Amino acid sequence: MKKPINVVVVISGSGSNLQTLIDQAAAININITGVISNIASAYGLTRAAQANIPTQVVDHTQFSDRTAFDTALMVAIDSYQPDLVVLAGFMRILTPALTKHYTGRMLNIHPSLLPKYRGLHTHKRALEAGDKEHGATVHFVTEELDGGPNVIQAIVPVADSDTEASLMEKVQEKEHKIYPQAVAWFAEGNLKMEHNKAFLMGEMLPPTGKRLPNDSSLAGTKQANN
Ligand code: GAR
Repeated sequence: MKKPINVVVVISGSGSNLQTLIDQAAAININITGVISNIASAYGLTRAAQANIPTQVVDHTQFSDRTAFDTALMVAIDSYQPDLVVLAGFMRILTPALTKHYTGRMLNIHPSLLPKYRGLHTHKRALEAGDKEHGATVHFVTEELDGGPNVIQAIVPVADSDTEASLMEKVQEKEHKIYPQAVAWFAEGNLKMEHNKAFLMGEMLPPTGKRLPNDSSLAGTKQANN
């Protein structure tokens, strides 16, 4: 097995996606070297501390503008020497200087089937539009907000009875499958971004990214590889 890659996870909240990465770190061959939050009370920091992972808070309210915040964030991230930076519920918009610095080595998870519903309130917007399908996407981060090339998506059927809360829960359940999968591919050296396109094992991924089959219960790292 290859040497584990160093991963830094950046959060703003509960950190349930962080938790799945902590739980699967050995299986997917990653070493989470640091967790950074812009919110001091984020529960994800507790999860990291419980797993003995170093943490830092970079509080955006302490900076005069986005550039100053992003500069401090970059210093914090780079202090953990990441091969990959994973945004997991990080709720700040990043400057082009920061996204350029991490080109091809920063992933984000977004609670919609991108390019649908970039930005906030995705579950509400899907319900209001009467969508029959909703979901989550892992994508490479570029300077375009929620606009970098897609890596993998999971679809969630929307039931008539769904509320924002029930939909969020179903989507998060899928997130916890697709994020470890995408990170595993990266750690294996099989996932790359070149010229603003995502490649898996040398093959360009379609605009949707890979699709996690509806009934899949991904346990290993290879199952969505086909
Ligand atoms: C996740 O559902 C993620 O998709 C979303 O925040 C949640 C974080 O949950 N991210 C965004 O909305 C980014 N624009 P978690 O803290 O429990 O992992």
